[in-house]
Amino acid sequence: MTPTVRTRVAIVGAGPAGLLLSHLLDAVGIPSVVIDQRSRDEIESTIRAGILEQGTVELLDTLGDASRVRTVGNRHDGIELRFAGEGHRIDFPSLVGRAVWLYPQHEVLKDLIAARLAAGQDLRFGVTAESVQDAETDRPRVIARDADGQPFEIEAEFVVGSDGSRSVARAAVTGSSTGGYFREYPFAWFGILCEAPPSSDELIYSNSPDGFALISQRSASVQRMYFQCDPETDTAAYSEAQLWDELQKRVPGTTLKEGPIFQRDVLRFRSFVAHELLRGRVALVGDAAHTVPPTGAKGMNLAIADVRLLADALGALLLDGDARPLETYPERALHRIWKAQHFSWWMTSLLHVAPDATDFDRRRQLGELRSVVESDHGRAYLAEAYTGWPQS
Ligand code: PHB
Repeated sequence: MTPTVRTRVAIVGAGPAGLLLSHLLDAVGIPSVVIDQRSRDEIESTIRAGILEQGTVELLDTLGDASRVRTVGNRHDGIELRFAGEGHRIDFPSLVGRAVWLYPQHEVLKDLIAARLAAGQDLRFGVTAESVQDAETDRPRVIARDADGQPFEIEAEFVVGSDGSRSVARAAVTGSSTGGYFREYPFAWFGILCEAPPSSDELIYSNSPDGFALISQRSASVQRMYFQCDPETDTAAYSEAQLWDELQKRVPGTTLKEGPIFQRDVLRFRSFVAHELLRGRVALVGDAAHTVPPTGAKGMNLAIADVRLLADALGALLLDGDARPLETYPERALHRIWKAQHFSWWMTSLLHVAPDATDFDRRRQLGELRSVVESDHGRAYLAEAYTGWPQS
């Protein structure tokens, strides 16, 4: 007999979405089991982007002192768009009355893991989900292997797939591990982490004839920067001096503060939305449900917006026996997901130089950039989307 763990909600994946969901469910008295194939250390040290919308920060505030976003993170009231050698600031508070916070995802994860363990959450690392079964019954199951490779099952009243872009749970919802709307881009980002002071107080999103660059930050002494590259680029192909050259030529007008580069990675650009987000008693949230290119800084925020909707829907289902909010979960989540898909695609196409761009394309793009920054409405559209649409 395979050992069986019983709970109300089984959550596959201990990223921001899965962990926050367990917190919101616990707050209304619904127990859950969260599993993740990675170790705690791996989860807490994987480098990811770090822009949090105001609504995301407010939801993290419900963790109390465990959330350090307001003490360790930094509030950013604007970003700079740079093109044709000039910078244009987009001021969020004056345009839309909101701001964003720079607080890297692994810091959010450290806060969430500590808070969940302190609350007694059943949270298991090193546990691999092999499949999700019986979605269309009222006892769906996760077939898993524990950290020692021993098989076991989790039987629940509901299963949530928050297991990222290579989701195992997705197959139980869409019928295949890939089923979705998909787009790939002909470029990627070469990302670096370096030991240096910040080169700018705010993020710079720069369009230049040599391609795009983003100057971001991590702390007073560590900086994160990216430049547009070919998706097949080998991270070892550049010397440190060449990396600084590539970055520097894409941000004319700013002298970058250089320092030792201690991490390099290539981020591929993809847009993806699963064909379905719900089947019976299995739902998808976060990257299991959708992927966006990083230019709009939407990934984690979108995951957390899904979770907010799903937590309410599961509360109605499991506490009041009301299935209606769950039935409308896909439609309500997709409303925001497709807006964010559009924004992420738009920021990407607005700022990058496509490998096959003609002179016409290049001049048209500058025309588009000017129509955004020279219009209160254009800047407000960008600010509204970047800081996050209010939760519906
Ligand atoms: C980051 O700091 O890693 C970052 C910031 C903004 C983005 C993407 C990545 O749009």
